[in-house]
Amino acid sequence: MLLGAMGDAHGGRFLRQEGLGRELKDLDLLLLAGDITDSSDIDAYGTVLAAIRKRSDVPIVAVFGNDEYEQDREELRRMYDITFLDDERVDLNIDGRIVRIVGTTGALDRPTWWQRNNVPGIHEMYRKRVETVSSLLDREGCDLLILLSHYATTYHTLRGEKERAFPEMGSRAMESVLLEKRPDLSIHAHAHGGSRHTVVSKKQRTLDDPRGGVAVPVWNVSLPLNKGITRFEIEVGEVNDVRVLL
Ligand SMILES: [Fe+2]
Ligand SMILES: [Fe+2]
Repeated sequence: MLLGAMGDAHGGRFLRQEGLGRELKDLDLLLLAGDITDSSDIDAYGTVLAAIRKRSDVPIVAVFGNDEYEQDREELRRMYDITFLDDERVDLNIDGRIVRIVGTTGALDRPTWWQRNNVPGIHEMYRKRVETVSSLLDREGCDLLILLSHYATTYHTLRGEKERAFPEMGSRAMESVLLEKRPDLSIHAHAHGGSRHTVVSKKQRTLDDPRGGVAVPVWNVSLPLNKGITRFEIEVGEVNDVRVLL
């Protein structure tokens, strides 16, 4: 199956129209990793969706970024007929396979200065969110398990950004969840100047180490970085094989 993913369109600023038809071609599913609009501009969100819809009727699953403000999320759900996930999950049947998407804005190890000063209980909120995502990431009854978040789920894909900002751009706590719950793929955005790809892994210490030999691919699908939609060709089987078409 062919999946596409992108984030950080920022109301169209980073969405290139030329080539978009080709990037959307033959996709079974498109994942939007947040910051699709800028400063919670609801109409600009629609502008990006319209550019996609002009070229493709692919099913779309989206999470909210920090530029889709909490107070506007209900309005976005009401306005646009795509599947939004906010600490939720959905099962989709694609070619007879059950694809489970767990969607979240994600967590930060250290809330930003603005968040620390304006959002009461933000530390606790992020801590709880990591727990929620962990409990949603259950592969029972699905063939392919994907974590879609806005914030980075590891620091490795933040390489290229200022190192001192890493705790305010992603979550090592989420990385531990990846190693424990082993989704087939973790997709995020938010790091406009980060790195595209990493594999989060844990070496097997003993033969019966339940977390041994884990390797979870993580892709940063931020548009300013990738200059287009990232396309994943996934072969679903005993061991799911995720490849990226450049
Ligand atoms: Fe962004
Ligand atoms: Fe962001």
